[in-house]
Amino acid sequence: MEEQTPQPEPSIFERMRNRLSPEGLPTDDRGRMRMVVDSLILHIHPSKVEVSTLKWTYTWGLGGLAGLLMAILGITGIILLNNYTPAAPQAYFDILELNSNVWFGELIRNLHHWSANLLIVVAVLHLIRVFVTGAYRPPRELNWLIGVAMLLLVVGANFTGYLLPWDQLAFWAITVGTSIISYVPLVGGWLSNLILGGPEVGANTLLNFYSMHISFIPLAIFGLMSYHFWRVRKDGGLTRPKSASQTEDAKVERVTTIPHLVHKEMIFALAWTAALLLFSMFVPAPLEGIANPALSPNPAKAPWYFLGLQELLLHFHPLVGAIVIPSLVIIGIFLLPFFDLSLESVGVYFRSARGRSLTLLSAGLALIATPIWVLLDEFVLNWTEWLPTWNSLLSNGLIPLVVILLPLILLDEWVAKRFKADTEERVLFIATYIFTAFIVLTLIGIYFRGPGMNLYLPWNMPTSH
Ligand code: HEM
Ligand code: HEM
Repeated sequence: MEEQTPQPEPSIFERMRNRLSPEGLPTDDRGRMRMVVDSLILHIHPSKVEVSTLKWTYTWGLGGLAGLLMAILGITGIILLNNYTPAAPQAYFDILELNSNVWFGELIRNLHHWSANLLIVVAVLHLIRVFVTGAYRPPRELNWLIGVAMLLLVVGANFTGYLLPWDQLAFWAITVGTSIISYVPLVGGWLSNLILGGPEVGANTLLNFYSMHISFIPLAIFGLMSYHFWRVRKDGGLTRPKSASQTEDAKVERVTTIPHLVHKEMIFALAWTAALLLFSMFVPAPLEGIANPALSPNPAKAPWYFLGLQELLLHFHPLVGAIVIPSLVIIGIFLLPFFDLSLESVGVYFRSARGRSLTLLSAGLALIATPIWVLLDEFVLNWTEWLPTWNSLLSNGLIPLVVILLPLILLDEWVAKRFKADTEERVLFIATYIFTAFIVLTLIGIYFRGPGMNLYLPWNMPTSH
């Protein structure tokens, strides 16, 4: 019998070509073009996906939407550069000019503005989706950490962008927002000077923020984003419940990415782009009078995404409200994958039926307890007056911190005993409580704080001046 010569392994290019075009290379230009596009798509996606991951009620398309918003921000940002001078007061006149004399200038600015704000909401919702499906557990810890870093950078991009129009809103929101930096122990003053380019917000701050906004921050986000996407593939695709995962390979139904997944993504991206365009055509980005350092508005509020933090500052010694609590929360979020290692419930929303009830209970408790605590602290509790000889770091920092942490620790114990909750359900319970409390604080800051940062009902709010 004649011996068969072993076939050489096909090269990566041959494998790719066979996958894209099993019947051989296309001969016409259209076919070749299509192959190039398909091969680009297959750099991001695997060639086949499980049918279960096509159900968009699992991810809600939030990661993809964040990616789309980043692309819109990159493109509109580069267009905006054409008509922007990072110098005070010229920056403001440039925006006026953009709004009135530049073709589609206002539309591009509105698109940039609304996409940026929506990106914060979408990235946080994506984080919540990843959290409640336990998708940060091994092997996806690194992608979680990259995600948290990207979220911080997205907030940084929004904050630095906020100053650029150089109007009253920008100037005072950044003045309030950056005042928090000076509370950093030991190096606060120095750090604030470095970031602001002087003792207060001024022309140097505008230049500093501009250069961060158009270079380091977007470069870092786009770099991390590519790695984030690549890791999703590297970590074995999206998480999914065990019953639908590869462990039962025989039952898993797979379809080709092109066209099944790509069609869905295209429709999703086009629908969102159309919605954003329509919104930006009718709702202008805010613009007030030119920045005037001598005329402080009342109330002076930080950008909306920092109002939860500003609310904390009204209740705690600045070191605790501005530094200790936010740092603990950020460190906690970074470390989440290392508290909660169980692989049992990966891909299942809220872990279990008990987890679902505990999440509801926790969100409900935080919804009630947070406004009550804000009202009590505003009108009843007055630790500094009650303990006049105590250092205010203790009376107005440590004591209120214990007052809010103690009930949380007791609640956690109660949940463990009464509901026999395991570690993953307890992590879910505590994180839901803290997260809901932070959202309530942010809403109070946005809608219930008026002149003098006093509490008002939104419908009784005196017009600010
Ligand atoms: C600019 C911000 C972000 C972009 C563009 C982005 C993009 C994506 C995309 C497209 C996916 C796959 C599909 C999906 O789950 O929707 C994904 C998955 C993932 N993302 Fe993000 N993401 C961002 C921020 C974050 C944040 C803030 C976190 C968490 C702190 C995070 C953690 C993860 C994890 C762990 C996965 C894998 C999920 C799974 O396998 O089920 N990402 N991201
Ligand atoms: C994560 C990405 C980004 C976010 C979240 C973001 C956010 C913002 C925000 C909130 C503003 C203020 C908009 C306004 O009310 O007028 C702004 C302005 C601006 N951004 Fe961005 N941006 C991003 C990326 C970029 C990039 C990549 C560029 C250019 C390379 C850019 C260039 C500009 C310019 C020139 C302005 C001033 C014009 C204006 O205020 O409308 N941005 N950005």
